[in-house]
Amino acid sequence: EEDGDVGEEYLFKIVLIGDSAVGKSNLLSRFARNEFDTNSKATIGVEFQTQVVEIEGKEVKAQIWDTAGQERFRAVTSAYYRGAVGALVVYDISRRSTFDGIKRWLEELATQNDGTVATMLVGNKCDLENIREVSVEEGKNLAEAEGLFFMETSALDTTNVQIAFETVIREIY
Ligand code: GTP
Ligand code: MG
Repeated sequence: EEDGDVGEEYLFKIVLIGDSAVGKSNLLSRFARNEFDTNSKATIGVEFQTQVVEIEGKEVKAQIWDTAGQERFRAVTSAYYRGAVGALVVYDISRRSTFDGIKRWLEELATQNDGTVATMLVGNKCDLENIREVSVEEGKNLAEAEGLFFMETSALDTTNVQIAFETVIREIY
C-alpha cells in the first residue's frame, strides 16, 4: 500500500434527502464544519462536502451530497442518486407533513438507485420537544418496518449528528 493511494478505495457517496426546511443543509454543515445557520436559505441545485472519518484505524472519505427539498430547485435526480451507497432520509419532528413525506423519498431512492444503500431515517430538530408532532415511537416503527437505521438529531444543539453520519459510513465500510 503506497502513501497517497490510501483513501482512494474508500470514497463513499452519501445522499441527504427529505422535504424542504427539515434541516439537511444544517446537518451537513454541523457534521462537516461544526457550523449552524439560523437563517439558512433553501438549497438550490446540488452541493457536496467531503469529510474524512476514521473507521477502525483507516481513513474513510465520505462525500456527502445535499440537494433541495423543493422540487423546483432540484437538479437532475438520476445524477444525484448515481453511485450513492448511503443515505440519510430526514424529516422534522415538529412538522408531521415532513414525516408523511418520507415514503415518497424512500420510493425515489429505491427507483433511482439499483444498489444497496445503507439508509438512516433521521428525525431532526429534536431540540423542539415542546412543539413535537411526531413521537420517537412513530419514527422507530417506520424505520423498523422499512429496515432502516433510526436516530433523532438536532443540528442546532448537535445531538446525534456525528453518530448518525458515522453509523451510515460504518455500515457501508
Ligand atoms: P432545503 O434546502 O430547502 O431542502 O432545506 P434544508 O432541509 O436544507 O433545511 P435547512 O438546513 O436550510 O434548515 C431549515 C431551517 O431549519 C433553518 O432555519 C435552520 O436554522 C433550521 N434548523 C435546521 N436544523 C435544525 C435543528 O436541529 N433544530 C432547530 N430548532 N432548527 C433547525
Ligand atoms: Mg438545504
